[in-house]
Amino acid sequence: MRIDVVTIFPDYLAPLDLSLPGKARDKGLLDLRVHDLRQWTTDRHRTVDDTPYGGGAGMVMKPEPWGEALDAVAGGATIVFTTPSGEPFTQRLAEELSGHEHLVFACGRYEGIDQRVIDHAATVGTVREVSLGDYVLNGGEVAALAITEAVVRLLPGFMGNAESLVEESHTDGLLEYPVYTKPATWRGREVPDVLLSGDHARIAAWRREQAEHRTALRRPDLLPATGAVGALADLDVR
Ligand code: ADE
Repeated sequence: MRIDVVTIFPDYLAPLDLSLPGKARDKGLLDLRVHDLRQWTTDRHRTVDDTPYGGGAGMVMKPEPWGEALDAVAGGATIVFTTPSGEPFTQRLAEELSGHEHLVFACGRYEGIDQRVIDHAATVGTVREVSLGDYVLNGGEVAALAITEAVVRLLPGFMGNAESLVEESHTDGLLEYPVYTKPATWRGREVPDVLLSGDHARIAAWRREQAEHRTALRRPDLLPATGAVGALADLDVR
């Protein structure tokens, strides 16, 4: 997979050299390139923003540098604009993006990017506007980092233990069950007996129940409408 990131803060993306994405690059699974948007400016001050037409607070990112940048790096790619007004990023979207050959992250700052850039991008590649969540960051870089990490770890051949992908939170639509390791007693707290039983069917049933319990308590929106009511009633958490 190839990933290009266009940003006015290339240093923000330095963590991509570490940890998981760094490992994917070492394995040759990922060709990652970070670009400074200002290289596509033409004025002495390397200006990337200007005041909004129609008035209002803040600054808007100018179209010209973005147009040059996308023409240079994004032909045929899936172009992800990270923005709080995008569709929510989910595990399902991570899975979808992990199947794409070439992703380009366009990291907006200030009040956003001139809309004509997004309209133009749709003629260069396929556009997705994606939000990390219902809160506002200072720019799209942290979102690009998070999305890259979630996507890259799904690349075939990346995870040593593919089973851990199957069992983790969100893969089956539920939050993950609680986990324990040795010692069996720690500061007077015991590991649940069932996990020491060696009875795989009972363990699987217990984990499923715990995952449903957690999901009903913390994220009832993830459960099917009737399932949520049923699970909450069963668990007596109302
Ligand atoms: N840029 C600023 N806030 C953001 C968010 N919540 N998601 C993606 N990009 C952003």
